[in-house]
Amino acid sequence: MMNNQYESLKKSFESFKNKIPYKPDLCIVLGSGLGIFLDDKKIDMEIKYNDIVDMPVSTVDGHNGSFVFLKSFGKKIVCMNGRVHFYEGYDMYDVVRPIRLIHMMGVNNIILTNAAGGVNKKFSAGDLMLIRDHISQFVKSPLIGKNIDELGDRFPDMSNVYSKDMINIAKSVAKLNKIKLREGVYLQFTGPNYETPTEVKFARKIGADAVGMSTVVEAMVAKHMNMNILGISLITNMAAGIKKTKLSHDEVKKTAKESSEKFVSLINGIIKNI
Ligand code: HPA
Repeated sequence: MMNNQYESLKKSFESFKNKIPYKPDLCIVLGSGLGIFLDDKKIDMEIKYNDIVDMPVSTVDGHNGSFVFLKSFGKKIVCMNGRVHFYEGYDMYDVVRPIRLIHMMGVNNIILTNAAGGVNKKFSAGDLMLIRDHISQFVKSPLIGKNIDELGDRFPDMSNVYSKDMINIAKSVAKLNKIKLREGVYLQFTGPNYETPTEVKFARKIGADAVGMSTVVEAMVAKHMNMNILGISLITNMAAGIKKTKLSHDEVKKTAKESSEKFVSLINGIIKNI
């Protein structure tokens, strides 16, 4: 795959580009349990990952995933409903393929969302956290391999991955709607296992506020392509060792469901104001 990455990407794009209804203004990547955002929306078009050539298909929860096109507050939006994770066994190149396809649709603004474990002891389950910066060094960079010069530089700058403008919009929306919003650093581990208490302590020591198994590699390729990026974590549980309870995917989904209302109102407010 190494030298044919761009060819394969173009093949993927060619296989569905005729179905794209319009050039979206914004992409929203919906994390675990956050597909709820779509519940009250009128869908214009859905393109299943299954129907896209060379597209990796998620193995989690029987959620195959799709690109969902819709309009909201006058904005044209494409949602990535379902993502694939490195822990599912895909090459990192395939994990970030949908993000690159989004860019090929002409999209320049992207909101990445995820469910995450709280590392900062001031956080609680149910909190929303804006991602101010990230730590990527525990996962393989998706930019390893021959650089795709058509998409971006060989050595992209990561000084400002997350857009200050979008962070400010999110903060003012939160203030207006009285939504408590945390801000912090997200660290991606590979998963699929949750961390040990010592790994969580380590994450805290090196500056992380939340840990998860996605998002960072997506942000890296999005930044490589010079997109405007906003990252939002829903803290679904405190990370290992902080509370006595055992961690489980069921708990993650339960908290995501319980906090869905404020998550959706934050996203809706951002869409309105972007
Ligand atoms: N660790 C890693 N990923 C997660 C967690 C966690 O505690 N909660 C939700 N995703």
